[in-house]
Amino acid sequence: MTKSLPFDENIVTKIISEFGSPVYVYDEAGIRNTSKELYTAFAWAKDYKNYFAVKATPTPGILKILQEEGMGFDVSSRSELLTVQRLGIPGDQLFYTANNVSKEDFALAIELGATVNIDDLSQLDVFLGLIKDRGYGRVSCRYTPLSIVSGGNDIIGAPREAKYGMSLDNLFVAYKRLKEANIKSFCLHAMVVSNELNPRSFADTANLLKDAIDQIEEKCNIKIGAVNLGGGFGLNYKVDQAPLDLTAVSKEIETVFKDSGITIYTENGRFVTGPHGYLVTTVRYIMNKYKTYVGVDASMHNLMRPGMYRAYHHITVLGRDESRGTKTYDVVGSLCENNDKFAIDRELPECNPGDVMIIHDAGAHGHAMGFNYNGLLKSPEVLLETDGSYTLLRRAETVDDYFRTIVW
Ligand SMILES: Cc1ncc(COP(=O)(O)O)c(C=O)c1O
Repeated sequence: MTKSLPFDENIVTKIISEFGSPVYVYDEAGIRNTSKELYTAFAWAKDYKNYFAVKATPTPGILKILQEEGMGFDVSSRSELLTVQRLGIPGDQLFYTANNVSKEDFALAIELGATVNIDDLSQLDVFLGLIKDRGYGRVSCRYTPLSIVSGGNDIIGAPREAKYGMSLDNLFVAYKRLKEANIKSFCLHAMVVSNELNPRSFADTANLLKDAIDQIEEKCNIKIGAVNLGGGFGLNYKVDQAPLDLTAVSKEIETVFKDSGITIYTENGRFVTGPHGYLVTTVRYIMNKYKTYVGVDASMHNLMRPGMYRAYHHITVLGRDESRGTKTYDVVGSLCENNDKFAIDRELPECNPGDVMIIHDAGAHGHAMGFNYNGLLKSPEVLLETDGSYTLLRRAETVDDYFRTIVW
C-alpha cells in the first residue's frame, strides 16, 4: 500500500540539487486544505478558533500561511513568543500555554496580551504579582482531570503522572483568586490525549471539561466564556489506518457544548501540518550485517519521533515500485545511538545508494524536535507553493552556526 505525494521526482531532484539532502518539504496546498477542513467541521461553533501549536512547526513561513487561514497560535516559550511578535500577530490571537514558566517569559506573554493559560497555583502567584492591580484581559487555567479518557495516551502520559495542569480543587482556588484580580474573561483548558484517532476520546474530554465548568461557575461564581480542548487530533501514520473522522469529533463536542453558549477553541498542531511535511533523504549505503541496513543521510536529529516513540512513519522510495522486488530493511541514520532508525524490518522496494527516500507525515513535531547531538546539523525547510514553485523557508544549519555559541 502507498501514500500519495504532492510532488514528482523531477521537483525533488531540483530541490535537492539546490538546497541539499536531507531536506524538509512542506505542501502549502495540503496545509491550506486541512485548515479549511478543520474550520468547516467546526462551522457550528460560533467564533471557533484553532490556536495552532507553534511547537509543532515553528517555521515563520508556515505560520504566515496558517494566519491567513484564520488560525491563532498557541505558544509555549520565549522564543515562540518572540517569533509571533516578529510576525506581528496580535495578542488576541495568542494563547500562552507553558508549564514551569519563568517570570520573564510570563511578563512577555502579558506584554503581548496573550490569553495566559495558568498551569499551576505557583505560577498563578507569579502572574498575579506581574499584573498587580491593573487587571488583565483573558485568563485560562489548565485542567488535568484524573479520570481516564478512552483511547491511547502514549505521548501525553497518564493523568496521575502528568506534570501539566491542575486538579479540580486547585482550579477552584485559582478562579476564586483570579475573580478578585479584575480579569475580563475566563477560559478553561485541557489537553489529555495526543495523536488520538478515536472520536469518543474527544467526547470524554469535552464532558470532563463541561462538568468542571459547571462546578467552577457554581463554586467560584464566575462565567467561563470559552473552553480550549487542546490539540491531539491524530494522524493515520500507517497506510492501513483510517484517518480521523473530523466530522464525528466535531459532532461529539457539539453534543456536549451546543446549548452552552461557550466558545470552543482547539490548539491542534499535528493534524494541520503533520501530513503535509516530508523529510527527503538520500540513500548512502546498503549495509549487510546480521540484518540489511539502508544508511540514509538523515538521522534521528532530523526526525526524532521513530527513535523516541517508536513511531511509524511511512517511507516511499522515489521512482521505485515493488515490481523490481522488495527487501526487508532497517532504515538508519548516522547517529551513535542504536534507536536512530526510521524503520525497522520494513519491506521496501529494493534500493541502491543514491536513491531518494521520502519519509511521510513529518510536518509536525519533526524538524522542530531537531537537535545537534554528534555535531549533526539541522536540515533546510522548503515550501512547495500552490502554483507548483518552491521557496526556501529556512536554510541548512552550517558548522559556523554550530560553532557560534562556543567560547573557544
Ligand atoms: C499544550 C499543547 N497544546 C497543543 C499541542 C499540540 O499537539 P498536537 O500537535 O498533537 O495537536 C501540544 C503538543 O505537545 C501541547 O503540549
